[in-house]
Amino acid sequence: MYAIEITGLTKKYGSFTAVNNLSLSIPKGMFYGLLGPNGAGKSSTIHCITGLANITQGTIKVLGKDVVTDYQEARKLVGLSQQDIHIDPYFTMDQVLVYQAGYFGIPAGEAKKRAEKLLKQFGVWEKRNEIYRKLSGGMKRKVEIAKALIHKPKILILDEPTAGLDVQTRKDLWEFIREQNKQGLTVILTTHYLEEAEALCEKIGIITEGKLHIEANTQELKKQHKNKKLEEIFLSLTEKKQ
Ligand SMILES: Nc1ncnc2c1ncn2[C@@H]1O[C@H](COP(=O)(O)OP(=O)(O)O)[C@@H](O)[C@H]1O
Ligand SMILES: [Mg+2]
Repeated sequence: MYAIEITGLTKKYGSFTAVNNLSLSIPKGMFYGLLGPNGAGKSSTIHCITGLANITQGTIKVLGKDVVTDYQEARKLVGLSQQDIHIDPYFTMDQVLVYQAGYFGIPAGEAKKRAEKLLKQFGVWEKRNEIYRKLSGGMKRKVEIAKALIHKPKILILDEPTAGLDVQTRKDLWEFIREQNKQGLTVILTTHYLEEAEALCEKIGIITEGKLHIEANTQELKKQHKNKKLEEIFLSLTEKKQ
């Protein structure tokens, strides 16, 4: 059984096709990089997996649970850190997490314990009573990821989690996510920092114009391209023919 199994996914917005008959399977425990230029359809695919967008055609299964017919089970299995964060700016870190846990029926006492653990792991515990709008960009992203993990999902999807963050904050996040993956969490990461994908992802899929352009084991792909940097390989693979 796969962590995520996408079969013939099409996502249309009106008459515009954002995802075009995409099939993709991600094994359990994998650290998978979903790459591709802006507008390729990565976030649309992620929104279909997580129920934020309706599927036009095709099926998606999360650990065998269909995201449409078995959506309650499927939702519990996935945690999503969205590209565009939606958090009430006047909530404290603590409140954000306890509130989110409520959606999954986790009682406040238990949620507070989990929030404490996550905020400590992220090194932001001392800021727990700070309201969201006063936090730095890096801390905001950490709260968003902690929020994605509060219900203990089996799969974590990170949609451009490191965009705009400084080098140290990015490295801190890498370490945290890598550790979670080692402990068995399946991770799906979208990023435009290809050195990040190279360092973290066992396998990558490149999406262009709503289709899976190429899928490969990261190290094998590098070997095939004389150990060039992933960035160079990516550009040569996604270059539009004039
Ligand atoms: N809600 C929406 N309504 C209409 N078009 C959308 C919507 N969301 C995304 N799109 C379009 O779908 C395409 C894919 O977008 P998206 O999935 O966000 O790409 P990516 O995450 O790879 O940058 C883009 O052309 C984008 O403008
Ligand atoms: Mg996107």
